[in-house]
Amino acid sequence: MVPRGIVSGTFYLQTFGCQMNVHDSDRMEEVLAAHGWSRAQTAAEADVIVLNTCSVREKAEQKLRSEVGRLVPLKRNKPDLVIVVAGCVAQQEGEALLARVEDLDLVIGPDNLAELPALLLAQRQGAPPIARTVFDIDAPRFLSARPERGKAPVSAFVTTMKGCDERCSFCVVPYTRGPERYRPATDIIDECARWVEAGAREVMLLGQTVDSFKDATLPAPESDDPDESQFPALLRLIAREVPRLARLRYTSPHPRHATASLAAAHAELDVLARHIHMPSQSGSDRMLRRMIRRYTRAEYVARVRRLADARPGMTLSTDIIVGFPGETDEDFEATLSLVREVGFTSLFGFKYSPRPHTPSRKLVDDVTEEVKSARLAELFALMEMQGSAHLVSLVGSTQRVLVEGASKTQPTTGASVRVQGRTERAEIVHLDVPPDVSPAGEIVEASIVRANKHSLQGALTPLALAALPRRIASPSRHVALPVLA
Ligand code: SAH
Ligand code: F3S
Repeated sequence: MVPRGIVSGTFYLQTFGCQMNVHDSDRMEEVLAAHGWSRAQTAAEADVIVLNTCSVREKAEQKLRSEVGRLVPLKRNKPDLVIVVAGCVAQQEGEALLARVEDLDLVIGPDNLAELPALLLAQRQGAPPIARTVFDIDAPRFLSARPERGKAPVSAFVTTMKGCDERCSFCVVPYTRGPERYRPATDIIDECARWVEAGAREVMLLGQTVDSFKDATLPAPESDDPDESQFPALLRLIAREVPRLARLRYTSPHPRHATASLAAAHAELDVLARHIHMPSQSGSDRMLRRMIRRYTRAEYVARVRRLADARPGMTLSTDIIVGFPGETDEDFEATLSLVREVGFTSLFGFKYSPRPHTPSRKLVDDVTEEVKSARLAELFALMEMQGSAHLVSLVGSTQRVLVEGASKTQPTTGASVRVQGRTERAEIVHLDVPPDVSPAGEIVEASIVRANKHSLQGALTPLALAALPRRIASPSRHVALPVLA
């Protein structure tokens, strides 16, 4: 039994890994704040340090180990300091982590975040170190965001499901995040509406296989294709119920559910971005089989083509693993040829690393580190070429840019301010605007004047400039521009 009550102090939260972890960290902050905890500026000042961990690849786990090592001296000086490990390494290792890392106090899995304040109180009251890593399978819980008006980012994340039933042979996620559970559509709509009310313009729907969504209250899929889900119905519902939402994206879909209905939703809904991130992992059928991806290369290509054809100017990006057990030069060539054939405009590439609990652990990790590195470099070189060619092709076009905030590098003259935003396809565009206009959160028309290595430089069209709110004329719209990483 965990004691109830309020205990105050300061916390410092460090997040590793994917967007899902960033999202979980935001919810953890809200839960802690609701129980009287406030954020510390540095780890050294904090009463509680939370490391929200990732175990998808080996490096992330190594990072955690060295991070805990760095915190140990802090604990020597401040014996009351509570060190918490949350996230996927916590879920994966559980009690074993407490045994292995002496200075840890709490290990808490992704489904137990709401219990954090009570567990911290117990620690304050002298409880022994504890691991809470229980999946909420029977009554799945989704922590709702509580955005404050005027403080919302331009683009907000909304969780639609958690866990994964796919069990790709290399992936630890089904073991660290558990089986698939879906958030009720009404809760998703409410949260999207709350974000928009608070000032967000774009929502990114988050899920491990975001396109496998199910909710009995939504219309059933019209076809009897077993891969159809209710995700397209969810997209339609959001578009209808949150009409002020300017843009809607999602990540990451699984190609299996990239069905005819999903393509139809893209054809129909203007709010959907003209860009889809669709992990492919490999272009070799032999590797795809070993990876248990449940599609062939030809099926993948047909499915993404159907999506890309649904709307003019749609772009695609992907995830790729190089050096999976048994990957030959020929298999890797097939991956390069897939990248060319589909014409991805960007990708995330990873070197295979064997993960605990996963079926592929039984296969010999036989591609040497040198070969993995060389293949990754070759993949990235190809991607750079394709990505640059795509950006160059946009020079001279006019794009609708959703401005997110100030760019990292500013013009030296001071006569203008550089802001950055994204096109309908998510390419980053920098714009130099007069210092008295306030474009954050606005969708502006820009002519693309130059392609940089990974971004575009644009200029506001005269009409767009004239239409922008002036800072002084309408001070209520004046929001300090967040500086973007
Ligand atoms: N569906 C999830 C995928 C999670 S893992 C999502 O929403 O993003 C993200 C990516 O990491 C995968 O697509 C895969 O390309 C890579 N990855 C996963 N396990 C890996 C491993 N053992 N070694 C190398 N890369 C891996
Ligand atoms: Fe991992 Fe495959 Fe699911 S990559 S998250 S097991 S779709």
